[in-house]
Amino acid sequence: MARVTSDNTKEYLESFLPEENSFVLKAKAEARRWQKDQISLSAYEAHLVCFFIRQFRCVRFIELGTLAGYSALKILESLPTEGHLWTFELNSERAQFASALFDEAGYKGRYTIIVGRAEEQLATIVAEAPFDGIFIDANKSSYPFYLDWSLKHLKPGGLLLADNTLMAGVADTHSPHPEKMIRELRAFNQELFQNPGLEAVILPTMEGLAVGVKRFS
Ligand SMILES: C[S@@+](CC[C@H](N)C(=O)[O-])C[C@H]1O[C@@H](n2cnc3c(N)ncnc32)[C@H](O)[C@@H]1O
Repeated sequence: MARVTSDNTKEYLESFLPEENSFVLKAKAEARRWQKDQISLSAYEAHLVCFFIRQFRCVRFIELGTLAGYSALKILESLPTEGHLWTFELNSERAQFASALFDEAGYKGRYTIIVGRAEEQLATIVAEAPFDGIFIDANKSSYPFYLDWSLKHLKPGGLLLADNTLMAGVADTHSPHPEKMIRELRAFNQELFQNPGLEAVILPTMEGLAVGVKRFS
């Protein structure tokens, strides 16, 4: 999503980052053309995601929610050359655009893009498990399902990232009638902190980036 903290802080933090390459900029521009750029990661949020991917030395990684490929391109940059990214996208037009862009950027053979509902399509890659990490950035209603799936298919010590866990209203416990999506995200956050299979934090970015590690036992 677009903001990390205030716009000034966002600008300041992004001033430390290197220029984005033409492929990444093309993904951002296409998302903008679809009027969906506001649901793509900001440059600093992508930097946070990639920081964890590199520090955890992830090789086999999953992303849920490709959109135009902005975050996926950054993830591919962060994986070693022998690494692989499985990225899931419901919308075939978005998936086709992203796939062509990944090839153009030289990542042919290093990614698999899977079109359809991730809730069903994840079953098609179970034989590839265990995975080193997963980034959840698709439909919020299925975050609890994705968490459960991740705990089954990540390696012990594997990395779990999820964006938007503090989306507007989630943390407002005074709201008497929170809408469905907020209730679902609250349930996800509860599970994140209580599940004995996981140790997790939520980084208090504007959107809330959850970072979890699958426990060894
Ligand atoms: C927040 S956007 C992803 C943004 C992307 N990670 C980025 O930073 O550029 C969420 C994407 O998830 C896709 N999506 C929604 N529901 C889905 C589902 N059930 N399975 C797979 N993808 C889904 C949407 O079509 C949308 O493109």
